[in-house]
Amino acid sequence: MSRFPDGFLWGAATSAYQIEGAGRTDGRGESIWDRFAAQPGAIADGSDGAVACEHYNRWQKDLELMRWMGLQSYRFSIPWPRIFPTGRWQSNPAGLAFYDRLVDGLLAANIEPVVTLYHWDLPQPLEDAGGWAVRDTVDASVEYVDVVTDQLGDRVRRFITHNEPWCISVLGYAQGLHAPGRKDWPAALAAAHHVLLSHGLATQVIRDNAPNAQVGITLNLVPAEPASPSAADREATRAFDGAFNRWFLDPLYGRGYPQDVVAVHVDAGNLVAPELPFVHPGDLELIAVPTDFLGVNYYSRAVVRSERVPEEQNAPRTVHPGERTDIGWEVYPDGLRQLLLRVHRDYAPASLHITENGAAYDTGPDEHGQIHDIERQQFLHSHLEAALAAVHAGVPLHGYFVWSLLDNYEWQEGYRKRFGIVWVDYATQERVPKESAHQFRAIVAANALPAVAPHATHARRRVLQR
Ligand code: FCB
Repeated sequence: MSRFPDGFLWGAATSAYQIEGAGRTDGRGESIWDRFAAQPGAIADGSDGAVACEHYNRWQKDLELMRWMGLQSYRFSIPWPRIFPTGRWQSNPAGLAFYDRLVDGLLAANIEPVVTLYHWDLPQPLEDAGGWAVRDTVDASVEYVDVVTDQLGDRVRRFITHNEPWCISVLGYAQGLHAPGRKDWPAALAAAHHVLLSHGLATQVIRDNAPNAQVGITLNLVPAEPASPSAADREATRAFDGAFNRWFLDPLYGRGYPQDVVAVHVDAGNLVAPELPFVHPGDLELIAVPTDFLGVNYYSRAVVRSERVPEEQNAPRTVHPGERTDIGWEVYPDGLRQLLLRVHRDYAPASLHITENGAAYDTGPDEHGQIHDIERQQFLHSHLEAALAAVHAGVPLHGYFVWSLLDNYEWQEGYRKRFGIVWVDYATQERVPKESAHQFRAIVAANALPAVAPHATHARRRVLQR
């Protein structure tokens, strides 16, 4: 057995739009995901989150599952359109009351609530007024955070301001793959800045409302490796790391925006330098507010190949991605160790939590109703080994949240990519813990990993998705 440090926090993560359903219940307003998902072609299976896992009505049962699993904490998000149906001004007590009940229920079950304040569901009226690309949205976000943390701050001990600013800004505003589906780089860079500024200002508000709570932000970070040792691939790798990782880490840790990445955006016509028009005096200080922890979401690495050099003129590839999960992401556990060491070395957050890690595999029930999701079990084991190696190397890693508690609505992929350690039958809403849930339960109970990695003892069976 390899033991984790005493006090290591074990949990599972979800987000509101992906599980709650109840799209119009209790006065919930429209979010950018409702609007985006309705666009033909936006979502792989044409679905939306209107029903999802019906968690809004089944939360007590889901809480029983968490309790059975022995979870010590549960990371969930609060959807802004339930609290402010039109984005601003008029809050909705019925929406807020749901999270009061959920928090009280979790505490009664001895499960620590970890609240993500923004996990992508912007109220549509705010998007109609410019969304994250405009500065007014920052003010609106601070009002929203104030109301939520004023209500829950007496009981919630850990708040995450934002989930994955890269996804919010780049997938949402530059690539158009996520809501609001815009393809406008200058807007995306402004959006990224406004999300960071919102984090800085919200952190201060949370400190006032919940002086005993820890505050952090969650980033999706991707370690990058050049596909070959060529100068072109190394340069492309540095650019990837800059755009993906440093663009967020540098300002959060007081270094401002990385100049090499600014230059790339200027070359591409995304920015007119030298000034970044959306950065007002004092913003960078606000963004660099000290926090209590950094949340890291880790799924995979990037193997970067330069597009500047024609393939035949570049050096032969020496690094090839390995096996992939159902969503096409390479399984690369050592990337988690490397990433944690790098963040610790370069930015030294006071504390780190893995706020998401997991894998999409569609393994479903066999004829006995058992779900032998061996690949997911191997994925979890190998990534926890990597996390433990980082702890042994001195990284102050204090928690791990598996993504996800339940199979759920995987954004533009719809319901076909299943990340849950609990199976959801979407026709009946039945929940069935997969073998990985049993595995996770044992790891949490022991606060340790078994020495031997899980291996297949049953023939694997796949089910057709609906
Ligand atoms: C992350 C998101 C989360 C989930 C996983 C698979 O980027 O934070 O909501 O969709 O990916």
